[in-house]
Amino acid sequence: MSGSARGRFISLEGGEGVGKSTQARALAAALRGRGLEVVETREPGGSAGAEAIRALLLEGGADRWGARAEALLFAAARSDHVYKTILPALEAGKWVLCDRFVDSSIAYQGGADGLGADAIRALHEVGSAGLLPDRTLLLEMDTFQAAFREFARDQGQLDRFGKRSGDYHGSVVQSFHEMALADPIRFRIIDADGEQEVVTQRLLNALGDLL
Ligand code: TYD
Repeated sequence: MSGSARGRFISLEGGEGVGKSTQARALAAALRGRGLEVVETREPGGSAGAEAIRALLLEGGADRWGARAEALLFAAARSDHVYKTILPALEAGKWVLCDRFVDSSIAYQGGADGLGADAIRALHEVGSAGLLPDRTLLLEMDTFQAAFREFARDQGQLDRFGKRSGDYHGSVVQSFHEMALADPIRFRIIDADGEQEVVTQRLLNALGDLL
């Protein structure tokens, strides 16, 4: 790709324990293997300011923030990330592969916490001028396996979100699924069950029309 063409913005989404971060790394490597310049980033975080907000969001007691304050903090972190990291990279012709983006806020704060998708979209309009990915890859996995993986994680390492109930995480998964069905042009639902390489190939195939 020439330096003058805008890069592609890809987000990876999913509930807890679907292997999203591992797949983000593998997909970035696969895209680089095709000669693309890829910026790997994640939310909350991805710029100095957003990483500072990440610490506020993920550390501390379960009720450190209410849902509304939390939604504002995610939107503020996202704004810094968009303007400091994502847009400059896209304008330089790079691909940006982001582990979670605004759809996580819609699923967690909007869906599971009950603030509603419209409120989250309004915050995103203020914070980030409503920027959306060119493609969003939603990793879905059999619930039992995802729950097992989460259980297998070191309990002490779980952040404020990981500690929430099974019902909460079920509602997150449901919200993501509904969003994907409502926008089949931007979203692709990817089966995250199977060998790591097989799942990475599924992700790559879901970008076929953008490559
Ligand atoms: P992280 O350690 O990055 O988790 P994961 O590996 O699951 O991506 O922590 C991010 C947590 O924050 C995760 O539980 C999802 C939650 N989250 C929201 O609730 N809203 C958001 O907008 C984002 C980006 C993340």
